[in-house]
Order: sequence, then structure tokens, then C-alpha cells
Amino acid sequence: MEDSNAAVEVSNDGSGLKWWSFSSPQRVSFGVGSRRLLPDVVRDLGARVLVCTDHNMVAAGVIAPLVESLTKTPDVEVLVYDEGEAEMGFDGAEACVDAVRSFGATVVVGIGGGSNLDLAKVVAARLCDDRPISRWAAEGLPQRALAVVALPTTAGTGSEVTPIAVLTDERRHLKVGFQNHVLLPRAVLVDPELTLTCPASVTAHSGMDALSHAIESLLDISFADKPTQAYADQAFVGKNPYSDALAIEAVTLIGRSLARAVRDGDDLAARTDMALGSLLAGMAFAAAGTAVIHALQYPLGALTRTAHGHGNAVLMPSAVRYNSSARRSEAARIARILGSTSDVDDVAASELADVLGELALEVGITPNLRSIGVNETDLDSLASAALGITRLLNNNPRPMDHEALVDVLRGALDFVPGVRW
Ligand SMILES: [Fe+2]
Repeated sequence: MEDSNAAVEVSNDGSGLKWWSFSSPQRVSFGVGSRRLLPDVVRDLGARVLVCTDHNMVAAGVIAPLVESLTKTPDVEVLVYDEGEAEMGFDGAEACVDAVRSFGATVVVGIGGGSNLDLAKVVAARLCDDRPISRWAAEGLPQRALAVVALPTTAGTGSEVTPIAVLTDERRHLKVGFQNHVLLPRAVLVDPELTLTCPASVTAHSGMDALSHAIESLLDISFADKPTQAYADQAFVGKNPYSDALAIEAVTLIGRSLARAVRDGDDLAARTDMALGSLLAGMAFAAAGTAVIHALQYPLGALTRTAHGHGNAVLMPSAVRYNSSARRSEAARIARILGSTSDVDDVAASELADVLGELALEVGITPNLRSIGVNETDLDSLASAALGITRLLNNNPRPMDHEALVDVLRGALDFVPGVRW
């Protein structure tokens, strides 16, 4: 291709041109204590450092030592914005931009869960573009952004390695997922010690979110069956060998350590597995994409106000049951990693929903829609809302229409692991 920005349409349609793409931060550092690399990372990126975080991170004592390490660095100036919050909206992100603009940041450091990292990514782009965030969906994202350094403190969203940021549009009462390569962080420090203070319920929800990223990546439509995007837009290209390798390892790590991390938050070995599993699952879905579970979770989260990972855990058994006929060997492989003992693919694949439901129960999540306040009368409107999220539904291995979405929801309504339906 001579021009990476041209809207070149080449389809994976048998013409012989089939490829997949993978983007990642320039530098990913992983390991206990790796947060201490922050001054070295920042030194390469800029001298005026905006830190985006929240009050909980400050109160937990996470921020002060990191800021101190930065301010000891010659010529580095630091501004901490700690008004980050879960379910951050357009207005909240604009308030951050207004508060920090005069500082003249040259690099943005996001510290916290997915919401803080998404805030850092959006603010880094918004500071380079005068248009309000509310216009991005219709007009396109900014063409450039300040460099972002991401330090996740939960093991779940994978936001540190994705070109995606999710904000709430308060006026339309819905979540908007922005996807563009300018949102990809430049450098990432994944320090499992930063997750030690994560409460059990958040650990469970985040961990199930990470697991859903890995599973959706493995069960996705193949890159060979998707139209190829223009080079500049390539992300969510469909299942491919790179995403498969990352996602299988993520399932293995999460499967062996999620319940331990929930039971004993001080278990650093389990926390390390979860941090790595989340990182690899994030890389996998940044390449392959998420699908029906996440498409349904957006309206489900808006309706029930449950955490993103909680909603995914509730939807996952029914969704994999629906999709496993199109992804038999992958579903069987996941089920065996998570506990199925059958060496017959059909049997193991059919057990995946129960295996996932049992894992959810083990970490304190009742894996059905009724438990989060959803009734039969909600299914139609949930399916209608999800039907518009074609960016994700187009990744599903089976086509999803309104009826299929209602089927998945109905399967999740009163699901109990081990009980046939
Ligand atoms: Fe997710």
C-alpha cells in the first residue's frame, strides 16, 4: 500500500490478499516493582507530566511515592488530576481538560483502573484538538495525541494496551467506545503490587472481564472472513494466530489464579498471574476484537448499573453456548483449560458454559440476569440496543440479529450451572 491513510478497500474475499495487523505500545514493562521505572519512562517522553487518577488511588497511598519519584527527576514538573471516577462521562473528561490545559502537559500518566486509563487516553488526545469530545463520534477522532504512560491497578480491562477508550455520553445516556490508534498508550508499566489493594469484588469482576476478552478473542470471526480495514484503522481485525496465542495463555493464567486472587488479595503469585493474564487478554482483543458479550453488556450495564465485568460474567455462559457450534475446537480447548476432563471436543465444548458459570460462582458472582434485576420484559429492548453495536457484533462467529440476541439473553436469564435448559 502506498498511502496508509487512503481508504483502500481490499477484502479478504479469496483475492489472495489476506492479512492481520497487530498494534501495541512501544514499550511494555511487566513485573513486581516495575512502577519504579516511571521516571525513566517519562524522561524519554516529556518534562511536564500530567497524572490522571482518582481520590481512591491517592487515599490508598499509591500516588504520592510515584509523584515524589517524578519530582526528584531534574526539570520534571508534575500536575496531579485526581477527579477520575468510574463511568467517566464526556463532561467529566472536559472538566479535566479545562482544569489542566494551562499546565501545558507534554506527557500524560494514567494510574488506576480502566476508567482512569481511558481518561488519560482521551485527555491526551483532547489536549491536541480544540473540538469537544461530543463531536468525535460524528466527525472523527483527533489526528494526534500526547504520549500516554499507563499503570493499571486492576487486572481486567486491558485498557493499557488497547487503542480504545469508553466514556459515557450523559446527554444520550449511553456509553461510547472510541477506537483509534491515537488512543494507544506509548508505554506501559504493569506492576502486580499495584493490584494488591484491589477489593475482592472488584478483583472478581475485573478478572471475569479479562477472561471474557480472552474468550471472545478465541471465539471471534476469523480475520480471513472479515473485510480488511484501511491500514490506518486496523484494530479488531478478527481472530488470528497472534491473538490466539495471547488469549490461550491468558485463559490459562486467569483460570488457575482468579479464584485464589479473590480469596486472598495478598497472594502476590496469584496477583501476578492475573496482571499478566489481563495484559495478554488485552493485547488479544485489541487485535481480534470483542463480540456479542460486550455488545450486550453495554445496554445491560446502562440498565442495571452493574460493573462491566459483572455483566460480562453473567452473559458469558449463554453467549459461549450460542457460539460454540461455530468454534467447537476452541470452545473445547478453553473448557479443558478451565476444568473439563473430556477429550471429546463436542462434549468439552458443551461443558464450557457450565465451567464458566461455576467459576463465576466460585468468585461470588451469580451468573444469571435475574440476579442483577433483569426480567423477561427487558430482553427485547436490551437486544434492540445491542443490535446497533455493529462494531462488536461484526466480530461474532455467528451472525447476530435481534432474534439471536434475545436467544442469548433468554439463555442467561435463569442460568444455573449444571442445570440443562
Ligand atoms: Fe471488557
